[in-house]
Amino acid sequence: MSSVAADARRHFTKSFGGEPTVVASAAGRVNLIGEHVDYNGGVALPIAIQRRTAVAVRVRDGARVSRLNSGGTGGVLTLDHAALVRRRKWTDYPSGVLDQLIGAGLDVPGLDVAVASDVPSGSGLSSSAALEVAFDFAVRSLLGLSIDRVAMALECQQAERQFVGVPCGAMDQLSASCGQQGHALHMQFDPVNVRPVPFRESVLVIDTALSRSLRVSAYAERVAECASALEAIRRDAPEVSSLAVATMAQVDGAAMRDVERRRARHVVAECARVRQVVLALAAGEPFPGDLAVASHESLRDDYDCSSRELDWTVAYALRQPGIKGARLTGAGWGGCAIAFGEVSALQALAKSLPAEYEKAIGHAPHTWVVSADDGARMEG
Ligand code: GLA
Repeated sequence: MSSVAADARRHFTKSFGGEPTVVASAAGRVNLIGEHVDYNGGVALPIAIQRRTAVAVRVRDGARVSRLNSGGTGGVLTLDHAALVRRRKWTDYPSGVLDQLIGAGLDVPGLDVAVASDVPSGSGLSSSAALEVAFDFAVRSLLGLSIDRVAMALECQQAERQFVGVPCGAMDQLSASCGQQGHALHMQFDPVNVRPVPFRESVLVIDTALSRSLRVSAYAERVAECASALEAIRRDAPEVSSLAVATMAQVDGAAMRDVERRRARHVVAECARVRQVVLALAAGEPFPGDLAVASHESLRDDYDCSSRELDWTVAYALRQPGIKGARLTGAGWGGCAIAFGEVSALQALAKSLPAEYEKAIGHAPHTWVVSADDGARMEG
């Protein structure tokens, strides 16, 4: 049992007394390459990582009202299943999943729920997807409902889109759910398909430790810009069903604003990079670091989702011996960067970077060496 699962169990006993019936967990994620393509029908290559969220559950007697605790402190919050409302709190994620289950016609009994996590929240490692998927997996197991990892992830994506109000793609929830140790996940989003590709390298995650305030509004703006770029392309070429299947010639030839063209160029080029990386990994080659760098440049220059801190981090990493590639990962606008290289080079980078970052940026970053781990699983 992972340590967060043991924590969730402990928090459960402290908050509600007795033992949970089911403990399940799901993983945070790092996207190796394929950024801002999931909501454009593209391809991405994330891994689930060794940072997890665990959920311990038991059915309550009586009314359809659930009680939730997170982290063992902060008391117990209640959710009335007949009146689920967004509260702009962490409980919105389990509420959103409950809303999906109830919306699908299930009569979900009142539950006691305790959560523990070591996925840092707000840093772009998908703590919200890990919570949604861990909760869904625990509840589905507890109630004896069917578990299809892809369908469960898509249900959690809808929870986030409809209940929490973030117009996200499906990459994070699919990673949290379908992750496999020693494998990256080759994801296609239109239609959704997830195929494991062997990936045994370690990756250094560098959290710029910035607030995520910009991320939600800027993300929604990019989704809208991509939608209008697609609309412009479809005026000439109605057969183009998503930006990801447009050609660069179609992007360049269609009448649209420069900003939309740059967004579309990123999407088309990024999908081509993902395909190249997948071919390299499938052939047993190491991750092509130059494609990580090209991805970062495209996100910085065409997608405008980098930041001074991310650019500084990537440039610093690339100057260190043995680092073969680096890029921002996740939505951007702060959050995390990743670096590729041998473990010894990653460790040396993790050692030298924090003091230099603090000198240049003014506050300390966080770093972790991670590798591909399992997604959702039962715990003990
Ligand atoms: C966030 C979203 C994902 C994806 C990434 C960018 O993590 O939740 O769906 O769009 O940004 O690749």
